Amino acid sequence: MVCLTLAALGILAAVQFSLAQRGAGKCQWAALRMQTDIYIESQTSGEVDPLLTSSSPVYRENYKQRDINTSFLTTPLKIDYTRTFVDQRDCKTYSQLIVANPKNPYIIGTQITYDNTGSAGLKAKIIDVVISRPSTEPQFNATKTLAYVDAEDWSVIVTAKQDSRDLLKMVANSYLDLWSGNGNFELPWGTPCARLEGSEYYTEECQPVSLNGKANTDRRYVVDEGLGAVSVFSKGGSDGTLLDIHEFRLVQGKLRYVHHFTASDAASVV
Ligand SMILES: *[C@@H]1O[C@H](CO)[C@@H](O)[C@H](O)[C@H]1NC(C)=O
Ligand SMILES: *[C@@H]1O[C@H](CO)[C@@H](O)[C@H](O)[C@H]1NC(C)=O
Repeated sequence: MVCLTLAALGILAAVQFSLAQRGAGKCQWAALRMQTDIYIESQTSGEVDPLLTSSSPVYRENYKQRDINTSFLTTPLKIDYTRTFVDQRDCKTYSQLIVANPKNPYIIGTQITYDNTGSAGLKAKIIDVVISRPSTEPQFNATKTLAYVDAEDWSVIVTAKQDSRDLLKMVANSYLDLWSGNGNFELPWGTPCARLEGSEYYTEECQPVSLNGKANTDRRYVVDEGLGAVSVFSKGGSDGTLLDIHEFRLVQGKLRYVHHFTASDAASVV
């Protein structure tokens, strides 16, 4: 009797310990995914669902703060394609949204940071939207971009074959460091590999030519081990002010896909 009770207490203590550890910053996959779907539904309808956010969320478009109630989120969009990365450790998500409509196309990357409010569930506390439009990219063609990304394999990687968070982030950072002068090293390219630059797709020359320029700074990450995926928002370009969206997919240590989009300047966003 006594032994059983002690063993049971031991198990209880172990469970409590692991719950306490998981509680710190770790969010449930399904809850993150569900909230992010609410974000996508809000953008589709142009009506900000009150379930999405905490009472005073930070909402940014191309790194500029805006009032969410009069933001781009209130522009209804017919979204043709979405892909979401889920970062349980940092309680964040990244979604790519493509609107292919040739008359009014958009490629949008959104990183959302959630707050675990307990009984009220997850609430978005920071929404970072980066919007790419034809103004900045002469070759911009969202229909082409959509066809390329739609043909790619972004299936979930079984746990035993997943790369570590540290490796995913290291490879993403190495790629972004190509531009900061000490670049020009070989990355662990997969065979095959592909690099999407806006609407241009490169499968032979996956490694970009890294002309010396400014380092990509102000990097914001979302890391999804299950998809081998990393989303990074950063500032780059020759004068260090262009906003970039990068998406990476690594499969068993090999870089399979790199996607890069450049933000339009804020004035031309809506
Ligand atoms: C946006 O509108 C909602 C619902 O009307 C309101 O609760 C919220 O305070 C508003 N947010 C801002 C930043 O004004
Ligand atoms: C965009 O790409 C699609 C598919 O490749 C093509 O049919 C269309 O003509 C292109 N649009 C423009 C404006 O180049």
